[in-house]
Order: sequence, then C-alpha cells, then structure tokens
Amino acid sequence: MFNLILFGPPGSGKGTQSERLVEKYGLVHLSTGNLLREEISQKTPLGLEAKSFMDKGQLVPDEVVIGMVDSYFDKHKEAKGFLFDGFPRTVAQAVALDKLLELKKTEITSVLALEVGEEELVKRLLNRGKTSGRSDDTNEEVIRKRFFVYSNETTPVAEHYKKARKFHPIKGEGTVDDIFSAISDAINKKLR
Ligand code: AP5
Repeated sequence: MFNLILFGPPGSGKGTQSERLVEKYGLVHLSTGNLLREEISQKTPLGLEAKSFMDKGQLVPDEVVIGMVDSYFDKHKEAKGFLFDGFPRTVAQAVALDKLLELKKTEITSVLALEVGEEELVKRLLNRGKTSGRSDDTNEEVIRKRFFVYSNETTPVAEHYKKARKFHPIKGEGTVDDIFSAISDAINKKLR
C-alpha cells in the first residue's frame, strides 16, 4: 500500500490538492474535516459533539476522531492506499494511526507538508468563507484560533515524522497547478 499524509495549516491547500492527487494515484481520500462535516449535516450525536469544537476553532477530541478513522478503514478494505488530509493533527493521533496501519501490515510512505505564510492563509480562508457556508471560515478570530491550535497541537506531529525520515516540505504558495507538480514530483521520487 502507498499511504500519504498531506500536512499543513488551515487553508494551505490540502483539500484542493487532495482532489487531484486521489485521482492521479488511485488513493482513497480520508479527510477528517469532511467526515466530521458529513456527521454534522446528518445531525448524528458525533456530529453534534464535533460541531461545538469546530465552531470555536478547537480540535475534536482524539478518541472521537480515531474511532471515526478506524470505521472508515473498515469500509475501505480494498484500498490500494490512503491520502490522509487533516489527519493526524495531534501526536496521539499519529501514534494511533501508526498502530492502525501496522494492523493492516502497512505504514505511512511519506508526509508532504504544504508551507504557506499566515497572512496568505487568512486571506484564502476569509475569501472561501464568503461562499463555503463553513462557520469556521467567516470569523477572523476563529481562523486565528485555528492557527494557534495548529501551532500548539499539530506542529509536534511534524517532529514525529521527521524522526522517521518521512517528512518533506513543499512550497504551498503559487498556482494550484505548480504546487500540484511539486507534490507529484515528490511522490514520483518515492515511487521510483
Ligand atoms: P479541516 O476541514 O481539516 O480544515 P483545515 O485543516 O482547517 O483546513 P481547510 O479545509 O480549511 O484548508 P485546506 O488546507 O484543506 O485548504 P483548501 O484546499 O480547502 O478541519 C476543520 C475543523 O475540523 C478543525 O478546525 C477541527 O475542529 C476539526 N478537525 C478536522 N480534523 C480533525 C482531527 N484530525 N482532529 C481533531 N479535529 C479535527 O484551500 C483553502 C482555500 O484556499 C480554498 O478556497 C482554495 O480554493 C484556496 N486555495 C487553495 N490553493 C490555493 C492556491 N495555491 N492559491 C490560492 N488559493 C488557493
């Protein structure tokens, strides 16, 4: 199996690039943000719990997210590989992911990290907020809170994969096409 993590702060382009990457490399897209928003739109108990955290720009508790990922794996037993988008977001999630993949006799192949400056990120998210209907995009205070949480809780995840020599930074500013080419080049090197 070929398993990638697309890593990066809110608004760095993970969702945008994931759509193209899953098509090019035949991977199953696992976006915890999308899964949580689906639960919210179906008004499930998990969705109702998650919404209270997401609206404030906080992370949903690890056990909720890890349980959701585990059941997603059960539904995609035939997958040739996964593209993880927005997961793992804490070291506890990264450790849990390592264990879940070990049970499937596989592991993370590579972590591709999109690097974008904070002011560009705010601009992108406020702009998306005009049309996306995402409550966490319309308020600049909530957006800044998401960056704060990212810097405190998610950046240590990078260390976890640097230690395993799986971490590859990618410049995330420029055109969507250029960034896609840079990511594809990094993946193709791994596949060779
Ligand atoms: P999630 O849905 O994962 O959101 P996020 O990480 O905040 O990321 P975004 O979707 O906002 O950005 P992105 O990097 O995907 O960028 P995109 O391609 O959309 O999480 C939302 C919330 O759910 C979290 O805050 C948390 O509460 C909860 N959650 C999710 N996963 C969790 C987990 N594992 N643990 C705990 N809680 C979790 O692009 C953004 C915008 O920029 C778009 O409008 C796009 O068109 C534009 N854009 C993209 N690329 C470019 C470019 N090159 N140039 C200009 N504009 C661009």
